[in-house]
Amino acid sequence: MPQFDKTTVHMKDPERVEQIICGLIKGGAFKLQIITDFDMTLSKFAVNGKRCPSCHYVIDNSKLVTDDCRQKLLQLKNKYYPIEIDPHLTMEEKYPFMVEWYFKSHSLLVEQRLQKDKLAEVVRESDAALREGYEQFFDRLHQHKVPVFIFSAGLGDVLEEIIHQAGVYHPNIKVVSNFMDFDDNGILRGFKGELIHVYNKHDGALRNTEYFKQLKEYCNIILLGDSLGDLSMADGVPNVENILKIGFLNDKVEERMDKYLDSYDIVLVKDETLDVPNSILQKVL
Ligand code: TMP
Ligand code: MG
Repeated sequence: MPQFDKTTVHMKDPERVEQIICGLIKGGAFKLQIITDFDMTLSKFAVNGKRCPSCHYVIDNSKLVTDDCRQKLLQLKNKYYPIEIDPHLTMEEKYPFMVEWYFKSHSLLVEQRLQKDKLAEVVRESDAALREGYEQFFDRLHQHKVPVFIFSAGLGDVLEEIIHQAGVYHPNIKVVSNFMDFDDNGILRGFKGELIHVYNKHDGALRNTEYFKQLKEYCNIILLGDSLGDLSMADGVPNVENILKIGFLNDKVEERMDKYLDSYDIVLVKDETLDVPNSILQKVL
């Protein structure tokens, strides 16, 4: 596959990758499911060196929050994002900090009394963008009825609006994320269900047993992520025969490269496209 010759593609064990892809090809469309992160995995990390927003940042940077609140959210990001990506801390060490970040940031959003009917506009005005090749990616998966599980520690309402506005929110997609809870007047009053943060994704399959039970014949998985926490998104999925883990390494590349190569089968370094996943899907489907 010519896409594998790109300088952005790194693999520790190319033979193993080939073996897994052969397994995926053998199983074809009927056995394949996708489990994917959203922020900085399906969405772009940067365009021409300028950072693209996460779901949270779409809101943080919008007219829906006051300047004072924006300042506070930014301070939180400056404190906690470096912890999220710190190569010298374990996931266990990061865990309580992530809970703290989400608690503080979500509390600030609730204080702002966000209006549900403003979300679409705010997303439209933002710089949020899906990676190059997203139409081909989502359309092909839809065409072949491949189930897509988007598992995000971002904001579900924003994420859904982004893929809806991009015209790719097809019925084969299921989104599990942090969804806002609005009161009868459409004002944010909290968040629904249990918090999903960057390092508690290992519980995902357990918390969505019905979904994965229905998919028990779909024993081949392509997992897409950008954080080490995303690696555990398929934990607890029953009957896995082949799993291919593709990781986007967007930031702190040198420090994190070894760890990413050890844990992801394919590492895509500063690659703002879905070319590699698309080339694999073209073979499998
Ligand atoms: P993901 O699981 O879809 O990648 O989404 C989680 C990202 O959201 C993670 O990188 C942390 C980020 N985030 C913000 O950008 N701002 C916030 O206020 C919070 C709580 C998280
Ligand atoms: Mg992410």
